[in-house]
Order: sequence, then C-alpha cells, then structure tokens
Amino acid sequence: MKFFVDTADIDAIRELHELGMVDGVTTNPSLILKSGRDILEVTKEICDLVEGPVSGQVVATEADDMIAEGRKLAQIADNIAVKVPLTWDGLKACKTLSGEGNMVNVTLCFSVNQALLAAKAGATFISPFIGRLDDINLDGMELIGDIRNVYDNYGYETQILAASIRSVNHIADSARIGADVITAPPNVIKAMVKHPLTDKGLEAFLSDWAKTGQKIL
Ligand code: E4P
Repeated sequence: MKFFVDTADIDAIRELHELGMVDGVTTNPSLILKSGRDILEVTKEICDLVEGPVSGQVVATEADDMIAEGRKLAQIADNIAVKVPLTWDGLKACKTLSGEGNMVNVTLCFSVNQALLAAKAGATFISPFIGRLDDINLDGMELIGDIRNVYDNYGYETQILAASIRSVNHIADSARIGADVITAPPNVIKAMVKHPLTDKGLEAFLSDWAKTGQKIL
C-alpha cells in the first residue's frame, strides 16, 4: 500500500520522506491556507522533494476554468496529479485532463456511484473521504470496501486513495480492505508506531540491562 502525506508542510514531508514513508503528497485549499504559503511555490517545493504524485487542487467550479487551472498546475512538475472535485464539471475536467496525459485525483467522493463515474472519466485516483462520513454517523470504511469490490468486479484501474483519515485504525482497515493508497496527516502516520506493549517491553529490557552493569559502546 502506498503512503501519501496529507499536508503542505514541507518540514513534515521531509521528515517522513527521509524514512522512505512518502510515496506521494496530497494538498487541498484548506491545507494551503494552513501552510501560509503561495500554492504554486509550495507545490513546486513539494514536487522537487518527493518523487511520487503530488496532488494540487483546482478551485474553479466550471469545467473550462478547472481545465485551465489544471493545465497550469500540471506545468509545475511531471509528478503533479491535478485534483478536481466530484461534480459534473469536475468529471468533464477529469476526462479532458487525463486525456491529455495528466494524473487526475477526483476528490470529495462519498458514494460508490460517484466512484464509478470518476473511473469512467479516466481518474488516476479516487479519493473517498472516510472521516467526513464517520463525522455524520455513516461508515467511511464500508465505502472503501464497496468501491474496492465494484472496481474489482469490472477491472477499473483507478486507484483507491483512502482520504480524510483521522486515526491509525483507518489506515490498518484501509490496508486490510485493499485500498491502493492512504493519505494521512503526518501526526497520524507517526502515531502508527505506538503500542503500549512496545513501550512496556522496552522499559523492562532497559531496566534489566542497567542491572547487568554492561555497556555496548
Ligand atoms: C485528501 O486529499 C483530503 O485533502 C483530506 O484527506 C481531507 O481530510 P479531512 O476530512 O480531515 O479534511
């Protein structure tokens, strides 16, 4: 499973990238706002740092304008994935931009039907939002499983990019279900290392080691 980092924070991306944990990056207008950076500048910096796909989101709502924005974003680097929303205009933009050879990430997906439309429009990635479905007492993980089944039934090659991940359980469950990619905030990816039995076990080993009076170095 590929790991994308859901942030426009260069330092956070760099830290995870040095450990080989970053297969790509996703950004959105809210994350650009949070970074306080210019979208074109920060996206270029991320693309220079990371080899894999870097999603940059269009903000127009009409297809022609989305296509123009997508073309401009795509000029930043070869590893840009143009992110478009799951609207009818977004699907038109997806069809055109993917037809021109660009990677396209169709975002804000909340249903199997939306995922089917995105695959038919040539999306490289479909981004179902798990956390936002959970927020309204629906089951985000069930949607990931449903899309996996439907895509497998028909051999669609669009990659399932599990998004709006809020917890380490979302990541483990996405892996169990067979999502192709997860995108998660840096703190959630780092939290995957934590287990109370690891902490407890290490404490016991260190305590026993101190009693030996030995040193390795
Ligand atoms: C992914 O591409 C989205 O930018 C992101 O995962 C949304 O997450 P949120 O629902 O926590 O804002």
